[in-house]
Amino acid sequence: MTTTPAPTPTERVLTGDRPTGPLHLGHYFGTLQNRVRLQNQGVEMFVLVADYQVITDRDVADRLAEHTENLVLDYLAAGLDPERTTIFAHSAVPALNQLMLPFLSLVSVAELSRNPTVKDEIAHSRQSGVSGLMFTYPVHQAADLLSCKATLVPVGQDQVPHLEVARTVARRFNERYPHADGTGVFPAPQPLLSEAPMLLGTDGGKMSKSRGNAISLGATEDETARLIRGAKTDADRRITYDPATRPEVSSLVLLTALCQERDPETVAEELGDGGAAALKRTTTEAVNEHLRPLRTRRAELAADRTHLRQVLRDGAQRAGAVAEATLAEVREVMGAVI
Ligand code: TRP
Repeated sequence: MTTTPAPTPTERVLTGDRPTGPLHLGHYFGTLQNRVRLQNQGVEMFVLVADYQVITDRDVADRLAEHTENLVLDYLAAGLDPERTTIFAHSAVPALNQLMLPFLSLVSVAELSRNPTVKDEIAHSRQSGVSGLMFTYPVHQAADLLSCKATLVPVGQDQVPHLEVARTVARRFNERYPHADGTGVFPAPQPLLSEAPMLLGTDGGKMSKSRGNAISLGATEDETARLIRGAKTDADRRITYDPATRPEVSSLVLLTALCQERDPETVAEELGDGGAAALKRTTTEAVNEHLRPLRTRRAELAADRTHLRQVLRDGAQRAGAVAEATLAEVREVMGAVI
């Protein structure tokens, strides 16, 4: 099969999160730091609050406005700069949502039902039945990505099947509706898989908003201390970094190392046979120290909700202009009457 070559665009990054609760250390070391790094390297960045996606696996989006604003708060506190990075909610961009319609014509029901991430989410869904939106949200995510012609998508491994959907949509659209000169409208977005450190929650499971085992960025120093004090460890007094056989202890060692920008092996060696209590004290101090400037900024920004909403409005305007240009191009190559 031949593919219509897409135009060579400048690199454009888009990534995002669902506004379902506060961001935690797993997000911070897994993706947030990386986004800030890309922004500071001068890469053009779009960061999206996937508010419509909240209703894929639950009936009602609980405290949506509050979660959305708090997500922006975490972004800004972590160092995303709304002057350089476009931060927006996808529900506020009509042209983006309109792309979902032609895109849905490009994928089969069989393809949608094979998506492993959707299958997994259906298995954990809070709904009794599977909604049409749950089934089709990877296509909506393709609209997120293609509305701004993103070329690079920093995501975790679980999002790779969705990126595949976006790439399929882009390829098929380009084949079916090429420009008069034969070029395609859409670039194929590539995943940018960072080596996200595997941080466990305080119960030894995956750190997650919904499991109540996460240390959120906005937690106070006392809350942080309490959470880490209660973290699961083991009885061996000797501290080692061995994620395969001692996952809980190693996760605390890793967290300390990430905060101090050191090797986990060195951190473990220094702790020697100090036992879990010393490890937890060290980890608490490292986390609180590392997050102190972020938390100070966060508290200042939290006092000004108007500013947070303004960031979202400005972002929606910028993302909206880009999405409208894309939609106009789509309508043109499809032969829609203006
Ligand atoms: N599906 C992603 C999640 O569940 C959120 C998301 C929506 C996203 N649109 C995106 C991520 C576009 C990257 C790019 O976390």
